[in-house]
Amino acid sequence: MSVEQSQINMQRLMLRYPSGKIALSGVTLDIKQGQFVYLVGESGAGKSSLLRMFYGGIRPSSGSLMVQGVDMRQAGESKVRELRRHTGIIFQDHKLLFSRTVFENVALPLRVQGWKTERLIPRVRKVLAYVGLGDRLWSYPEALSGGEQQRVAIARAMTAKPAVILADEPTGNLDVDTARRVLDYLMDLSRQGATVIMATHDLHLLESHPGRVIQLHAGALAGDGR
Ligand SMILES: Nc1ncnc2c1ncn2[C@@H]1O[C@H](COP(=O)(O)OP(=O)(O)OP(=O)(O)O)[C@@H](O)[C@H]1O
Ligand SMILES: [Mg+2]
Repeated sequence: MSVEQSQINMQRLMLRYPSGKIALSGVTLDIKQGQFVYLVGESGAGKSSLLRMFYGGIRPSSGSLMVQGVDMRQAGESKVRELRRHTGIIFQDHKLLFSRTVFENVALPLRVQGWKTERLIPRVRKVLAYVGLGDRLWSYPEALSGGEQQRVAIARAMTAKPAVILADEPTGNLDVDTARRVLDYLMDLSRQGATVIMATHDLHLLESHPGRVIQLHAGALAGDGR
């Protein structure tokens, strides 16, 4: 696959919630495979809404949106499910399974892909070590702090090396060192070809881990650069 391949393309994308609120108006963007992208902008600018459209959580009201070759205005449920199998989603409302151990939560995307237990063990261990939870494999989520649970969710989203990683303020609950380590790993994945799109208010990250910065303001594109 060419590095220049378009992973997400939108033309005059508009989103109107049932309440009538226009969350995004006329956004045109092209994101290539392997890009590392920050989504910034004030609270209410439309960052989470945009990310949600990238995995079919909400559908565009008008304009066009192509994600990994899928037309998000036309795609049926099975197409969207298939797309999510190649998408790592780090959202605060994507909860962990509380009846399963940390290990099983992180192994889940690999099991869905049919990985055998002996093959997935080293991968799960490695990813959990990365987020500093190498010694908590057999804990249950309820025994973890909020930030630790967040790190399990991050590990789960990264474990299957998805083509696209969507992260909504993933470092919000994390201390500086852990946030840096998570960013290091996300950057590694992007160098290996994953497209990473991350909404954040943490502008310090942009200095230590530079990327493309897409700025939204009141639902419109307000900037796009490095
Ligand atoms: N389910 C919904 N129904 C109606 N309006 C919504 C809904 N979700 C979000 N909005 C509105 O759409 C706009 C964009 O919200 P969004 O959550 O995308 O902003 P954001 O940039 O992620 O903000 P924050 O930085 O606070 O997370 C806001 O005005 C918000 O109130
Ligand atoms: Mg948000």
